[in-house]
Amino acid sequence: MKQIKIGKSDVYTTPLGLGTNKVGGHNLFQNLDEQDGYDLLREALKQGINFLDTAYVYGLGRSEEIIGDVLQDYDRSKVIIATKAAQDQSHDMAINNSPEFIKKAVDEALLRLKTDYIDIFYIHFPDKDTPKDEAIETLDEIRKAGKIRAIGVSNFSLAQIKEANKNGKVDIVEDQFSLVHQAPVKEELKYLQENNISFVPFFPLASGLLTGKYYLKDWEKFKNSDGGKLLGDFSEKQYDDAMKGIDGIRKIAADHQATVTQTVLAWYMANPAISVVIPGARNADQVKSNAAAMKVDLTSDEYQKIDQLFSNF
Ligand SMILES: NC(=O)c1ccc[n+]([C@@H]2O[C@H](COP(=O)([O-])OP(=O)(O)OC[C@H]3O[C@@H](n4cnc5c(N)ncnc54)[C@H](OP(=O)(O)O)[C@@H]3O)[C@@H](O)[C@H]2O)c1
Repeated sequence: MKQIKIGKSDVYTTPLGLGTNKVGGHNLFQNLDEQDGYDLLREALKQGINFLDTAYVYGLGRSEEIIGDVLQDYDRSKVIIATKAAQDQSHDMAINNSPEFIKKAVDEALLRLKTDYIDIFYIHFPDKDTPKDEAIETLDEIRKAGKIRAIGVSNFSLAQIKEANKNGKVDIVEDQFSLVHQAPVKEELKYLQENNISFVPFFPLASGLLTGKYYLKDWEKFKNSDGGKLLGDFSEKQYDDAMKGIDGIRKIAADHQATVTQTVLAWYMANPAISVVIPGARNADQVKSNAAAMKVDLTSDEYQKIDQLFSNF
């Protein structure tokens, strides 16, 4: 299995990871079954996915706790854990990047994850006051103390990423990017590639829109789904354009005897701007199916064709 190096760090990962906001993320999604969370994590590790993306805010620590429970049954050195923090519960969930808060957030995440190091730690959102390079220096201190291995930021603008990376210490960035959300991050991806910073897109399946389970007539159904609510300002016209693109992907998927989701995930894995793709999942069946994307090799013609199908975005 191909291994991807994260930024300037010595962290290596499979190109397909797992997003875990539906693992214990009761504050974000309704009707989540925690047992499904445990099962889907174990399925991911069984399928050879070794990168787990979590955050304090997924269940206010619950996602990290469940991952910590599952980790006890595995060789820690074989699993890459990425987590994030910024929401300060003691101040009404205000965004906080101060040194005191970041140090406390890392220590608390270590306890919940039941481990003595975190492979990748992201500042989840920028706060208003802390200079970005200072926030990164705090993480660098924590890295030198051996508590984290790589430094990341998420939801930072390009200007904020540049300020954070003033001393070249940012290893990885996580931001929204998908086949239907490309233009807003075009410049950012160029900067990251030029500066040896890895990129992880969130919402790679556009919260379910790109899985092949929706068709042209399903706009209302999608709009009212968890995913539709998350994508917020997505218009009906954009939805129709996306469904036309998905129809094109259905043909490519059929040639590989693959699903639409597997083919979409294969496109990310073939995209040189992307380091790790972290589709979320609701249950172990979705994880098992998505893991098979690692076996779908798109030709460069197929890769370009998918690019063209979504060139409006
Ligand atoms: N840094 C940040 O600020 C940030 C923000 C958002 C997310 N994230 C991270 O990024 C990860 C990915 O984003 P996401 O999970 O929100 O969205 P996503 O990966 O775009 O979509 C995942 C959703 O698609 C559906 N799905 C997945 N596989 C499927 C399959 N094979 N067949 C049918 N449906 C399938 C599931 O939802 P349903 O079954 O409910 O449709 C699943 O929860 C998150 O889990 C989280 O770790 C980070």
